[in-house]
Amino acid sequence: MTLNVSPLTLGTSGLGRDTSPGSAEEEAVVAFAEQLVASSHAFVDTSNNYAAGRSEAVLGLAIARTGAEAATRVISKVDCDPESGAFDRDRVLRSFDETSARLGVERLPLLHLHDPYTVTFDEAIGRGGAVEGLIELRESGRVDAIGVAAGPIPLMARYVATGVFDAVLIHNRFTVVDRSAEPVFADARERGMTVFNAAPYGAGILATGAREGAMYGYRPATPELQEWVSRLERVCAAHGVALPAVALHFSMRSPLVDSTVVGISSARRLAQLDELAAAPIPEDVWHELEALGPAPSTIDDSAYA
Ligand SMILES: NC(=O)c1ccc[n+]([C@@H]2O[C@H](COP(=O)([O-])OP(=O)(O)OC[C@H]3O[C@@H](n4cnc5c(N)ncnc54)[C@H](OP(=O)(O)O)[C@@H]3O)[C@@H](O)[C@H]2O)c1
Repeated sequence: MTLNVSPLTLGTSGLGRDTSPGSAEEEAVVAFAEQLVASSHAFVDTSNNYAAGRSEAVLGLAIARTGAEAATRVISKVDCDPESGAFDRDRVLRSFDETSARLGVERLPLLHLHDPYTVTFDEAIGRGGAVEGLIELRESGRVDAIGVAAGPIPLMARYVATGVFDAVLIHNRFTVVDRSAEPVFADARERGMTVFNAAPYGAGILATGAREGAMYGYRPATPELQEWVSRLERVCAAHGVALPAVALHFSMRSPLVDSTVVGISSARRLAQLDELAAAPIPEDVWHELEALGPAPSTIDDSAYA
């Protein structure tokens, strides 16, 4: 099944964090979430466990105010039981029920299996496993499509190769720093799956530039990576383009990627995103990026090999 994605999907992993129901802080976040679900971008990406459920709760309040169309624009994910770590068929169905209640939505366009790290691959795809739950939800029409969303490439390659998913989302592994997702995206593409590439800024350093405390892929950037990013910043400066614009366009211009998922934390960031997406990047930037050679990524998926 093909999803009508747009080039950018709005990520909400931090939405509503540390807000309590009915508070003034929540009100401000809901007003921002209304902008997200009414934006020109096709989908907003959330998950059962983002901000301990607050991301979905805030989106649900925004959908209630914005109207039925907004309800068709949210993609979510099933998560393991936060206490026991259980992640089987029954947990998947419960996770979807929680999501559905928070969002106030009966049916979702896409539901991903999220970060299936508390179970083995064989458990997840076996009888009574998490994937069975997702297939059931698709067959019953409660979700139009199912996907798998996580990081480690050896694991993602196995999930994609099952052939049961309509979509895949991989984070921090198809950026100017790390291209390890490339073969899995290519395989997914050949299978007709929708490809989401998440975290084009490596969740930090490719937005902020090299600086003390900068992170890549939720880990501190090493001095080697800081140095490599500084070299890329010099290339960007020489061509008068911003580093985050180059990082974003690297993903957006790839024929392997259907939609790039960017974390958006405020109305200001949403406006910036549209500016960065519209920025022209001179062709020479891509040649000079290649000339820098491979970046020393902080990602290490060897535990999953
Ligand atoms: N397993 C999964 O399914 C999975 C994993 C990772 C991500 N995702 C999805 O992908 C989305 C994107 O991932 P992400 O948010 O971790 O990474 P990201 O999109 O690469 O980076 C977002 C970070 O960049 C910063 N940023 C953005 N624009 C900036 C600018 N102009 N100047 C300075 N800083 C800027 C943001 O800071 P501020 O906070 O200050 O705005 C935020 O910390 C998530 O929200 C989620 O929806 C899914």
